[in-house]
Amino acid sequence: MTTTDGISLSDLKRKIENRQARIGIVGMGYVGLPLALLFSNEGFRVTGFDIEERKVKTLNSGGSYIVRILPDAIQQAQKSGFVATSDYSEIEKMDAIIICVPTPLSEYHEPDLSYVTGTVESIAPHLHDGHLVILESTTYPGTTEELVVPLIEKGNPRGLKVARNSAENGVHVAFSPEREDPGNETVARHDIPKVVGGCGAVASELASAYYGSIFRRVVPVSSPSVAEMTKLLENIYRCVNIALVNELKQLCIRMGIDIHEVIDAAKTKPFGFQAFYPGPGLGGHCIPIDPFYLSWKAKQFDFRTRFIELAGEVNINMPYFVIDQLAEGLNQHRKSINGSKILVLGLAYKRDIDDLRESPSLTIIELLRDKGANVSYNDPFFPTVGRGRHYALNMSNTPLDNLAQYDAVIIVTDHSAYDYRAIVDQAQLVIDTRNATRGMDSPKIVRC
Ligand SMILES: NC(=O)c1ccc[n+]([C@@H]2O[C@H](COP(=O)([O-])OP(=O)(O)OC[C@H]3O[C@@H](n4cnc5c(N)ncnc54)[C@H](O)[C@@H]3O)[C@@H](O)[C@H]2O)c1
Repeated sequence: MTTTDGISLSDLKRKIENRQARIGIVGMGYVGLPLALLFSNEGFRVTGFDIEERKVKTLNSGGSYIVRILPDAIQQAQKSGFVATSDYSEIEKMDAIIICVPTPLSEYHEPDLSYVTGTVESIAPHLHDGHLVILESTTYPGTTEELVVPLIEKGNPRGLKVARNSAENGVHVAFSPEREDPGNETVARHDIPKVVGGCGAVASELASAYYGSIFRRVVPVSSPSVAEMTKLLENIYRCVNIALVNELKQLCIRMGIDIHEVIDAAKTKPFGFQAFYPGPGLGGHCIPIDPFYLSWKAKQFDFRTRFIELAGEVNINMPYFVIDQLAEGLNQHRKSINGSKILVLGLAYKRDIDDLRESPSLTIIELLRDKGANVSYNDPFFPTVGRGRHYALNMSNTPLDNLAQYDAVIIVTDHSAYDYRAIVDQAQLVIDTRNATRGMDSPKIVRC
């Protein structure tokens, strides 16, 4: 393959090896920004694209808006040429463009690919021969081939085509799922193998060369659809297994068995078992959403994904189960939810992160308000919480003092900064949805 500019595949690979290739990352969020920093650390000159001016300004002034990314890391990247912009004409200067924009669900629980289509439509006019475009956003199998490729070809004024083999000129397109687990300090990002599926062998080879410079292992697969499905399998596996332990937890409570003790014992088996933990419901941008991308797509093939639907049903019900357990706990004190003062501990969807997307805390607070409770929250990561796509709370963080004033404290997110012993000592009633009070013996605790 040689581009119309006379650049061969080996030239492009050499550019990657000697770090002269320029990388554009579209979407400077939880996925795109850390990826930009990884490439910058390896000496690549990275440009971050985002439609939010606030983010572009913050990054260009050497600041950060994600708690676990320190301004220092941004400033370090700036030394390798990292800049942020919302000007898509800059795409022309890039060699590879990686798309990391949101893929949420619509209000009817269907894939909302408007961010992906918006991005591809914006970059398509600026693409040229030899460019590599990689989609990282989680989506259903077929998106890259059926949506991204036609949009690129339609949106390019010079009639550019997507190259399918080494004999063809054009844009190279691939899909590579993001597999990060925010807050997980046990695996370094570069140790998470990177799955890559290209529209053709050259796209795969180029994408593997880029990722091979920052990840220890690249796993090429035969097509973008296989890579798209791989990511969904991983998330559906988690979603279904979490639903399983959430259901068993409810049974165990009735039977007077501690599910956490059961899981701890089961995980001593050296094969065939992986521990998943129950909780107040799913949260985050991935597990509650991604499986439904597949169940939507499956309908096109006249197929029902029953595991996904059943897991969704169990997991979506968990915040309601927490409310039932609270009602039961208050009942023991001759109180009702209506009129009670309740403190919700933790808004983030999981421990020690500053992300509240799809957090079960939001549902729990709304359910409590609907039932007439007077609700406050504490979360060191959120001084205030306003409106989101699915909620309107408009609340401010409450200091963690005078806990005796609350009829109940619900531990929804087990941030490690909390002193759980002190919380149990001071509170009248503690509803623990995370096993944060493990090892403590107190009649005030309801574990659920
Ligand atoms: N957050 C995670 O832990 C995680 C893990 C694995 C996969 N993913 C997937 O990665 C994708 C991105 O998720 P995220 O958590 O980074 O989302 P995010 O909301 O944190 O970031 C997305 C960014 O894209 C920007 N954006 C939206 N439309 C744009 C456009 N047209 N042009 C430029 N910028 C645009 C937004 O302003 C935002 O800054 C999603 O598909 C998600 O499912 C996320």
